[in-house]
Amino acid sequence: MILLTDEGRAALELAAEHSDPTSLAAATALRREFSPELAGAALHQEALRRKAVAKLGERARGMLFTPEGLEQATRRPVAEWRARRLVAAGVREVVDLGCGIAADAMVMAEHGVRVTAVEIDPDTAALAAHNLSWAQTSTGEAAEALVRVGDALALAPELLSRPDVAAFVDPARRTSRGRSWQLEDLTPSWGFVLDLVTGGQPAVVKLGPGVDRAELPAVFTSHVSHRGDAVETTLWSGLDLGGGAGPGIGEAVLVSDEVRTLSGPPEALPVGPLGRFVHEADPAVSRAELVWRLAPDLVQLDPHAGYATSDQVLPAPFATSFTVLEQLDPRPKHLARWVKDHDIGTLEIKKRGRGGALDLDPAVLRRQLAPRGTQSATVMFCRIGGAVTALHVQRANHSS
Ligand SMILES: C[S@@+](CC[C@H](N)C(=O)[O-])C[C@H]1O[C@@H](n2cnc3c(N)ncnc32)[C@H](O)[C@@H]1O
Repeated sequence: MILLTDEGRAALELAAEHSDPTSLAAATALRREFSPELAGAALHQEALRRKAVAKLGERARGMLFTPEGLEQATRRPVAEWRARRLVAAGVREVVDLGCGIAADAMVMAEHGVRVTAVEIDPDTAALAAHNLSWAQTSTGEAAEALVRVGDALALAPELLSRPDVAAFVDPARRTSRGRSWQLEDLTPSWGFVLDLVTGGQPAVVKLGPGVDRAELPAVFTSHVSHRGDAVETTLWSGLDLGGGAGPGIGEAVLVSDEVRTLSGPPEALPVGPLGRFVHEADPAVSRAELVWRLAPDLVQLDPHAGYATSDQVLPAPFATSFTVLEQLDPRPKHLARWVKDHDIGTLEIKKRGRGGALDLDPAVLRRQLAPRGTQSATVMFCRIGGAVTALHVQRANHSS
């Protein structure tokens, strides 16, 4: 790869000095020193590195990326949560079967785990090798990691021959049609993943956040959010995680400045009447079906994608609770009058569920309602007893 040469490194250093690597000035300056191909590659890489810092932290300034590799990379705080848990479970060695640009592998290696990272695409593998050479443990030593170029399916029997070596797999979710949520579109394949998690070897699998729980094997499953975004579903097998983690138990993991967890058997809330508060659970809690764990008297307004409701405020950050101020006529004409009469200028529109009046686009509706006043308001669309309604609500706790 052109950037892995001495000249490539010099071009990257010069690209990093420019305030805007996408500018004409930067392109002109680099072309004065390097070939147009190298200048272009270095500036493109510098732009990717700057984007990567938000996702992967300051380490990203020395890493190398492809746009797809960066898109698929695990956010650093989530990779750290996983690496810490592996170390706490006594794992000393991991084989990463499909490592991409090695964002996960780097963090595991930095936590003192010996990593063998397998990647089928040779160009991506070269970037992974560079990135892993950049990884350092907390004591400043180079991390222990090596990259093997090849097919995970072919290499797994050899690399996992010792029973104490843990397998990690984060299958690619891209097809020629773009991003896919179907398990049958994963590479390495879903069949390979299932064999790993049911084969007795310690194994950890990262899947997309939207997988259908009914399709998953009966292993301990974490539903993970990062700063309120649903980011992944993690399967754990063959590891002693303590704390009652076992088959049939799910976990919500909320990663932000700290990590908060909630676990238990998944259970849907019963449907019931509107209380004083409506609650929007963090997506990790909703996807793990653990909202019931937040309070004893909770019900949901609708069995499909409903909000929870009760007469008490729920604990943040697991849920944001809203005081119900009034129930409004959801028809746009009536809402527009309400917005005007109440001098609303900043209008937050929330909705859960689909079908009929719930198929609204909040941005389009907001334009239609034309809020031009001085007050702020939050309106929540949901289904109560089968009918769509709009609730005027106000935040009663804070998630962050
Ligand atoms: C989602 S990415 C991994 C991202 C990585 N966990 C990170 O945080 O950077 C999956 C990678 O698996 C690779 N891959 C897909 N099928 C593979 C196979 N059969 N053997 C080895 N690698 C494979 C893809 O090329 C892709 O780079």
